[in-house]
Amino acid sequence: MAAAQLYSKFTRVWIPDPEEVWKSAEITQDYKDGDRSLHLQLEDGTLYDLPIGPDGDGLPFLRNPDILVGQNDLTALSHLHEPAVLHSLRVRFVESNLIYTYCGIVLVALNPYEELPLYGDDVLWAYSGHHRGDMDPHIYGVAEEAYRNMARANENQSVVVSGESGAGKTVSAKYALRFFATVGGSRGAVESRVMAANPILEALGNAKTTRNANSSRFGKYVELRFGGGQRLLGAHVRTYLLERSRVVCQ
Ligand SMILES: Nc1ncnc2c1ncn2[C@@H]1O[C@H](COP(=O)(O)OP(=O)(O)OP(=O)(O)O)[C@@H](O)[C@H]1O
Ligand SMILES: [Mg+2]
Repeated sequence: MAAAQLYSKFTRVWIPDPEEVWKSAEITQDYKDGDRSLHLQLEDGTLYDLPIGPDGDGLPFLRNPDILVGQNDLTALSHLHEPAVLHSLRVRFVESNLIYTYCGIVLVALNPYEELPLYGDDVLWAYSGHHRGDMDPHIYGVAEEAYRNMARANENQSVVVSGESGAGKTVSAKYALRFFATVGGSRGAVESRVMAANPILEALGNAKTTRNANSSRFGKYVELRFGGGQRLLGAHVRTYLLERSRVVCQ
């Protein structure tokens, strides 16, 4: 669509802000091709003229209609860009205390920095056997999908956990492991041993940094082996990615 149609009066946009990162504004006058500024009104009522380049560069990101914001999957948004993603994640967290959101096959997890009642056995079993699209986004939903695909296709599955320091990778991986150990457990010692290995590795391999009181000093590749009936047989942990920036002395 031409810019003139998209940037019409009453359309809402996101403009960068040094403090709030992104700030919402409403267009007060239709934009025409060649206009060198876009007339806006900020949410506090202030008027603001945003300079626009000769080829329309500098036109701001469009804000999604409120009805689309806060859904389970970010791909439901008409406009998918940084302010749209951040706003949607914020609305879910602030209004409904939801820390998980899908973005297609990816699960986006916010770190709530407090214990939420999200991980009990009742929740875990509610996710077991259910298609991930039928349930609210959750790390257990991702684990269930991997478990189900392994069973159905008889193929190895991988779950990659990434994010900046303190984002919650170690915690998320622990809950994924807990899911596999519980649904694949045979009420034997294997699953409790697999779970018990984690605190030992953390005791040796984690340290406090300014960003995370329990920061991992090496990445882990955890290989779980399942036998007939998708029963957990054992686990193999390999360390890799020893980040030198995370080690102060030998
Ligand atoms: N889902 C969660 N629920 C509650 N608290 C959480 C959750 N995820 C993370 N946290 C809190 O945040 C802290 C940091 O998380 P975590 O150690 O998983 O980060 P990380 O991504 O592994 O960081 P690093 O790269 O430094 O190892 C945890 O010790 C915990 O207090
Ligand atoms: Mg970690």
